[in-house]
Amino acid sequence: MRIAMLTGGGDCPGLNAVIRTIVRKAETQMGAETIGFYDSWDGVVEQRYALLKTNDVRGIAPRGGTILGTRRGGPFDKKSGVADVQRAVADLQLDALVVIGGNGSLTVASRLFEEHGLPTIGVPKTIDNDVVGTDSTFGFQTAVQIATDAIDRLHTTAESHDRILVVEVMGRDAGWIALHAGIAGGATAIVVPEDPFDIETLTEIVRRRHDNGRYASVVVVAEGATPRDKSQVDVYKGNVSAVIAQELQARTGYEARLVQLGHLQRGGTPTSYDRVLATRFGLAAVDACVNQEYGQMVVLRCGEIARASMKLTSGQTRTINLDLYRDIVASFVG
Ligand code: F6P
Repeated sequence: MRIAMLTGGGDCPGLNAVIRTIVRKAETQMGAETIGFYDSWDGVVEQRYALLKTNDVRGIAPRGGTILGTRRGGPFDKKSGVADVQRAVADLQLDALVVIGGNGSLTVASRLFEEHGLPTIGVPKTIDNDVVGTDSTFGFQTAVQIATDAIDRLHTTAESHDRILVVEVMGRDAGWIALHAGIAGGATAIVVPEDPFDIETLTEIVRRRHDNGRYASVVVVAEGATPRDKSQVDVYKGNVSAVIAQELQARTGYEARLVQLGHLQRGGTPTSYDRVLATRFGLAAVDACVNQEYGQMVVLRCGEIARASMKLTSGQTRTINLDLYRDIVASFVG
């Protein structure tokens, strides 16, 4: 049996733990060969790959990034892309192709199975935690921890200077990182894409807090946040946290500073939770290959590893639990 794998989309802590697990389980339990394609779908299309053995993956679980490299985009973006993937699967006599990716890569993997009958299996990853069908993705917890550590540090500077610190976190169109890091870091306000913000309400929250004698406000803003007032969408577009910081300073009279955490949230060593989840996904992915569960991805449901169709991910975003968000806002904000 021959199992191939690739990592697609943005890198994320825990990818190497999945690669390591697939190689080790395939080799030791199944006597199967594993192939790692370099640079996501580019490696498949161009047949650039490495035969992976246990010795090649020793000690990589704590390492961030991916030893295979990754890229955005996929075979559907190129004229002969799908035919090239079909050729690679045939030439290399692959029994399964494990796609370790987020919504974009999993949608590609799903289409390759549904429309072209290719033997794809999915492993969901992303710091954004926005893949439909799984309760969680690895990488998310690490990103939340990094953002929480940053918020903790920013509190002290905000307090010393009586300032407003606006912290922008990633997450694309979902507010998972903002919500969880905001809760853990005790943010003054949390701005998420799922609940468009009103700048006057935000201003009031900050103003009231300082008027009540509190120093320092830390406002966590998800990069995908948008204003409730649709006429202001263009004003904030592509620059949401910077404009919020400017507005809060102008409206309250307190100095505001902006910190965009950016790719810091994706880099470095995964938390133990993410390493364990990635390992569990890797173990299950090998089983899914052996059982020919093509078109399926391994997922986490109520603490257990299960399967879900990759079709679920197509054009979808798993958004935050708004009940939790509203409860937090009602209990802590202001
Ligand atoms: O999907 C992960 C993610 O980090 C998002 O949170 C962010 O919007 C995007 O990728 C950034 O992509 P890039 O690394 O291509 O700039």
